[in-house]
Amino acid sequence: MDARTLKIEAARVALSHVHSGMKLGIGTGSTAEEFVRLLAAEVAGGMEIIGVPTSERTAALCRELGVPLTTLDEMPHLDLTIDGADEIDPELTLVKGGGGALLREKIVAAASDAMIVIADESKLVDPLGRFPLPIEVNRFGLQATKLAVETAARTLGLDGAIALRMAGDQEFVTDGGHLILDASFGRIPDPRALSTALHAVPGVVEHGLFIDMARLAVVARAGGVEEITP
Ligand code: 5RP
Repeated sequence: MDARTLKIEAARVALSHVHSGMKLGIGTGSTAEEFVRLLAAEVAGGMEIIGVPTSERTAALCRELGVPLTTLDEMPHLDLTIDGADEIDPELTLVKGGGGALLREKIVAAASDAMIVIADESKLVDPLGRFPLPIEVNRFGLQATKLAVETAARTLGLDGAIALRMAGDQEFVTDGGHLILDASFGRIPDPRALSTALHAVPGVVEHGLFIDMARLAVVARAGGVEEITP
């Protein structure tokens, strides 16, 4: 089975958790986009949901496919968010932000009663750290923030290159107007400690560690789809 088919299978099983009347957070990335396509077909068939997109990219796809949208300001409490991830550990701690939407993704997931993460099996890791950790930062004081992140990480024994994310020859800019540092720390044995340390750096807007947010992972493997709880 190719990667796209696996993503569609995970999205299809996640869709069985969606019911008419739900207020949904809608994630970002290629797996979340497969979910949007399946959701749009249900909406066309009469399912009544309203969605809050986690990025401009997801919003554009939803509009194109006819998935009704609102904003978190209009609807500050959601039933369920369905989103992809870059890494998933056995506790369902996630690394997210490969698509640069981590801030809105985290705000939307935090406003939801539940979060389901959808992925193909390549995203399962133990421990986290194969994928560089995205850290969203304010543009002001970029080099000072980078230095402070390096120092904070080093106190936890984490080292490794921290790179400013680029989009071609331009800085990658998030929907919120911020920049992203991709931190190749390697193994992250204590995500909570790293989360606390990163939040203590003033220029850090948010980081891509999602801790105690996902309560279910729907993971597609060649042999079938598995629902994993922490
Ligand atoms: C975007 C994300 C995505 O959910 C994550 O990058 C996974 O994307 P994909 O499904 O394309 O592998 O966090 O910010």
